[in-house]
Amino acid sequence: MHYTARAHTNIALLKYWGKVDEAIITPTTTSISLTLNEFYTDTTVWFDKTLASDQLVLDGETISGTAAQKVSRFLNIVRDMAGFNDKAYIISTNNVPTAAGLASSASAFAALAGAASKAAGLDLSVTELSRLARHGSGSATRSIFGGFANWVPGDDRTSFATPIFEKVDWPIQLMTVIINDQPKKVGSRLGMQHAKNTAPFYKVWVKLANSQVADMISAIQQHDLVKLGELAEANALQMHAMNATSVPPFNYLTDKSWQVIMIAQELRNQGIPVYATMDAGPNVKLISRPEDTSIIKKALTDVVTSSQIIIASPGPGIKVTSGDK
Ligand code: PMV
Repeated sequence: MHYTARAHTNIALLKYWGKVDEAIITPTTTSISLTLNEFYTDTTVWFDKTLASDQLVLDGETISGTAAQKVSRFLNIVRDMAGFNDKAYIISTNNVPTAAGLASSASAFAALAGAASKAAGLDLSVTELSRLARHGSGSATRSIFGGFANWVPGDDRTSFATPIFEKVDWPIQLMTVIINDQPKKVGSRLGMQHAKNTAPFYKVWVKLANSQVADMISAIQQHDLVKLGELAEANALQMHAMNATSVPPFNYLTDKSWQVIMIAQELRNQGIPVYATMDAGPNVKLISRPEDTSIIKKALTDVVTSSQIIIASPGPGIKVTSGDK
């Protein structure tokens, strides 16, 4: 029997940027995210006694090397849990535009956790799935849930995500402004490690980020886009400022990223609630109301073309289906 899982990627409104434990991926701060409907990964897994090694096919291509090793290491955890050693076929399709710089690792490892655990005969709760997905990629722990999710620090047992509101029935969207579609120079693992080890303000960031959690949750509960956006933008800028004060400094944002951030600020001065958040790359994601789409697009015309803007809405949690191979 094979199992297929669909998991959606997510955007962090309060970022995860640093690990307490590198091996088991536990974070230094609580992070809060919004799962996105338009971007997802479909992954099918089945175990086969006759296989000598795991076989990974990603977007139609057979994969070997680091990516395949990472998947096999993740499957070893599932095999340990299930108590057998059979190898697996893993067929995965990404519906996350790589150019958008949205973490496809979040949807990828969430989907893999869902499909592989079921194929191994495990019947994990969403909490157990979130904990398992964390071993693949930190942000994947939140992609088990739809809507707004909250991932807390802790030990291997206690660090997992929980949903805040899975169904988002108020107008909020994410516009990704694609500035550069090249692979990032400093991956998130190295970036967060370097900031944690060298940025003089790292401890301040941890305190500040954790102090933003209660306000972010109440902004979500109250459907307060202004409060949510202000906190998300502040948190993202604090993370990027910390990177710029690491030794040696590093930076993900370009002149164009700053142009977009400033356009959001100008629009706010005109009474349009639009807020910027950026991850480990130059692309800027704008949090806004769907009704302001055309006015925001118009304000961006000097910086990007309309094909460089991708709109996403709140999305659902993981779904696992079964089938014969
Ligand atoms: O889960 P990772 O290792 O891809 O790291 C994600 C890091 C950020 O996207 C910058 C923040 C986050 O919380 O998603």
